[in-house]
Amino acid sequence: MPKKKSAPPSASGTPSSHNITSLSHEARVFKPAPEFSTAAHVKSLAAYRKLYDESIQHPDKFWSRVAKEELVWFSPFKKVLQWKEPVAKWFIGGRLNLAYNCLDRWLNTPVANKAAIIWEGEPNADGRPGEERTLTYRQLHREVCRFANVLKRHGIEKGDRVLIYLPMVPEAAIAMLACARIGAVHSVVFGGFSAQSVADRVADSGARMIITADGGYRRGATVQLKRNVDDALALKDSDGNQIAASVKSVIVLRRCCNDIHMKEARDVWWHRELEYVTPDCPAAKLDSEAPLFILYTSGSTGKPKGIFHTTAGYLLGAKLTTRLVFDLKPDDVYWCTADVGWVTGHSYVVYGPLANGGTSLMYEGAPNWPEPDRFWRIVEKYGVSILYTAPTAIRAFMKWGDEWPGKHNLKSLRLLGSVGEPINPEAWMWYHNVIGGGRCPIVDTWWQTETGAIMITPLPGAIPTKPGSATLPFFGILPEVVDDKGVEVPRNTGGKLVIRKPWPSMLRGVWGDPVRFKQTYWSEVQHSYFTGDGCRQDQDGYFWIVGRIDDVLNVAGHRIGTAEVESALVSHPSVAEAAVVGRPDELKGQALVAFVILKSGVVAKHELREELRQHVGKEIGPVAKPDDIRFAEALPKTRSGKIMRRLLKQVASGLEIKGDTTTLEDYNVLAKLAQTSE
Ligand code: WTA
Repeated sequence: MPKKKSAPPSASGTPSSHNITSLSHEARVFKPAPEFSTAAHVKSLAAYRKLYDESIQHPDKFWSRVAKEELVWFSPFKKVLQWKEPVAKWFIGGRLNLAYNCLDRWLNTPVANKAAIIWEGEPNADGRPGEERTLTYRQLHREVCRFANVLKRHGIEKGDRVLIYLPMVPEAAIAMLACARIGAVHSVVFGGFSAQSVADRVADSGARMIITADGGYRRGATVQLKRNVDDALALKDSDGNQIAASVKSVIVLRRCCNDIHMKEARDVWWHRELEYVTPDCPAAKLDSEAPLFILYTSGSTGKPKGIFHTTAGYLLGAKLTTRLVFDLKPDDVYWCTADVGWVTGHSYVVYGPLANGGTSLMYEGAPNWPEPDRFWRIVEKYGVSILYTAPTAIRAFMKWGDEWPGKHNLKSLRLLGSVGEPINPEAWMWYHNVIGGGRCPIVDTWWQTETGAIMITPLPGAIPTKPGSATLPFFGILPEVVDDKGVEVPRNTGGKLVIRKPWPSMLRGVWGDPVRFKQTYWSEVQHSYFTGDGCRQDQDGYFWIVGRIDDVLNVAGHRIGTAEVESALVSHPSVAEAAVVGRPDELKGQALVAFVILKSGVVAKHELREELRQHVGKEIGPVAKPDDIRFAEALPKTRSGKIMRRLLKQVASGLEIKGDTTTLEDYNVLAKLAQTSE
């Protein structure tokens, strides 16, 4: 990475030089309330800037101090960072354990008997309230130790991969922490993904074990998780070989009385296994760089990539951001509504809150089941003080009407967070006024699976907010907006968002594929991490994320690779070719539009549309089902055969076709495409 001169406060260009003593758009600026600032962990803009400047100018000193203060180490690290682009090693020589940092460290403190996890299940279809469970730190510690012993009993050792495919139940956190305790590497797969996706992730990671449940609940129906696992384990590749051959055992949590099949010598019940183990399980003394988890996420090409994170840097990022961005205090009831199948669930449902001794609320169901006030009912019932959710949910709540939050007392809320996609100013204002009663700061947090922790965000109490902007970088993070040559663009000009310096919780690679790691993240812009996002900085240095500029779509806060959906579509016998693009969607941010060319002789019937949608659901999972399928006779291509996605996007959005079309192979194609809409 280029050695950036650490900017003196008045220099232009670097984020450390934000000239925000007076903000330009005063009308749209929300300053932290003095009462909030006085009590906040970071109390003023000046305090933020001082620490930020230190973190950029003297990163070794800053991170060394913070890592010692925040984490419990079995052996101290000897060196803060070894950077050989693109390979980073942080806190070299240190030994620690993530589960110890989340659990054991609290055992001889007043936190031991505090709620670590408060869980509420979805209300039953017949109207009975959902189940409730609370696990104190002491209870959670015991459950994690017992389950870690179950893993060991099944031969799981340090470095082995374990796939977790569970609903939003405390056992998901228990399974993750149990892996971390013995040094196994977990890979959580979102319960909405298909059998095929499970099999692909097993094959890529070489997982030896799958931890699942007989089923989960969603909107009154059950999700057949175990059945999907059975299907995944039966899948064969084109040569007739089992795809998920590395799996030796499956541990099944009993939830609903599904009629499920347990295969002898492979499948065992979670509760039965516990009968054979003790609650004593010392935490393994792991290297700072011991792999912690793999999480698959969509990229612009091919199958999802296994993003992997390691122990110390990731934990430090998750812990520090949770405390400072959410201003987490001992009395808070903190609720991040993400599923543990996504990175937000990893860092901000499980690891971040527990590493801080916080109380993390987990909810299994949908926001509008049985009624659209589900979230507000939970906020009132448990006195939630910090709520972290996605703009898609906020926009849906807006649509359902103010009467639903209006039925509940939301006075316990003191801070609101947003993540996963750009939040439009209207949704921001609604969140602020209707949910936050005009008094709660909003933290719009930008980050990615790859970054491990929040990167650009307001610090409540310190950084004034502007609706729609993620504001300023977190400590140690040096983002820049650059042009195609990698040169920083002037303020108020759009460009690519890159990160110029390594940071502790950064991804350490793409599992098993160092070449793809380098190509995807470290080749687009020289000596910088490429985020895949477009961005602009305003005159105050505030960052405004525009959204993905690669072929990744963000549908309802979920990352979906167009290439993945295209290959799912062409795997259907009726489809010859497919191209998938996004179009703006009021609720979901983006919607998926698929242009499909059928094989000759296949008739474009309405039922086929639904069949193709179901097919994609089966191949990837319901989140990837196209919203629109349009049958076309040909796709617009350049003379070299590249699909012109820009044009398809315009057709999909119903826009007039703009820009240069001179490289198009067949002009007629465009006219025909414009007529394909339903
Ligand atoms: C988008 C989710 C605007 C962005 C934590 C990023 C956002 C992708 C924001 C990562 C935000 C996330 N404002 N866009 N506050 N947060 N994004 O890996 O496009 O599921 O690259 O991680 O979500 O999605 P991922």
